[in-house]
Amino acid sequence: MKEIVSTKEMLFNAMKKGYAVPAFNIHNLETIQSVLETAAKLGSPVILAGTPSTIEYAGGDYIVAIAQAAVKKYDIPIAIHLDHFEDPKEIIKYLDMGFKSCMIDASLESFEENIRITKDVIKYAHGLGATVEAELGRLGGQEDNIVVDDENAAYTDPKSAVEFVERTGIDSLAVAIGTAHGLYKGEPKLDVERLKIIRKLISIPLVLHGASDVPDEMVKRTIEYGINKVNVATDLKIPFANAIKKYFNEHPDANDPRKYLTPAKKTMMEVVRHKIEVCGSASRV
Ligand code: 13P
Repeated sequence: MKEIVSTKEMLFNAMKKGYAVPAFNIHNLETIQSVLETAAKLGSPVILAGTPSTIEYAGGDYIVAIAQAAVKKYDIPIAIHLDHFEDPKEIIKYLDMGFKSCMIDASLESFEENIRITKDVIKYAHGLGATVEAELGRLGGQEDNIVVDDENAAYTDPKSAVEFVERTGIDSLAVAIGTAHGLYKGEPKLDVERLKIIRKLISIPLVLHGASDVPDEMVKRTIEYGINKVNVATDLKIPFANAIKKYFNEHPDANDPRKYLTPAKKTMMEVVRHKIEVCGSASRV
């Protein structure tokens, strides 16, 4: 029987072959459908990600059930991922529910504390065959309730990254190389030289957070230099909201969710198709 998978195999395949698997932050049935229908059509492995407040909003059990229905329907590897979870107890709760991939985000803690917390999560997650991502360095911007202002953002130090990966045994590493969550004030400046060095030193998949609003060519360059998972939230949320606003502007008396959500889904599908193309993950299954 087909099952929800961890991100282990899909990210290792991406690392071996030099592409990235897109991870889309989803919020409800419609975003999940838009992502999965498009990924299935294009033959792309895909990750559905949810931050703590999203999982609480949508219901972890509902997300697991929808993903289980989808794995039966589509012939692509589908992972559901806990994104930016800071509380190990919450991670354990949702891994027990059926999530097979998580990010423990202890990047705001000290180096030693980050290692300790991450190792604790890994012990539990690996026992269930689930994969663990962790972050070293600190990404600017806001994701969920985590806010990091410009002065507190910090790039990933390559040497510390090697020690972090060796001592924790994580499955993938989120690197801070100049991207930020949400929209950018100017053109983002990415430190791809730093990424190149990290890639040379580390042999597990690398993750790019904050990929929305980054020019396609820049994202492609990070993939060329070693990124294997690209996280997209804002670039899906804004067109979704805009399509609904447009529908209501044109149909002020509308009230049928099937009517106003259908153009929103179409708009999201186009974004998903485009991101899959940028990631180079089509026809990889
Ligand atoms: P964006 O909202 O910038 O796409 O960031 C998404 C992200 O990194 C989720 O972890």
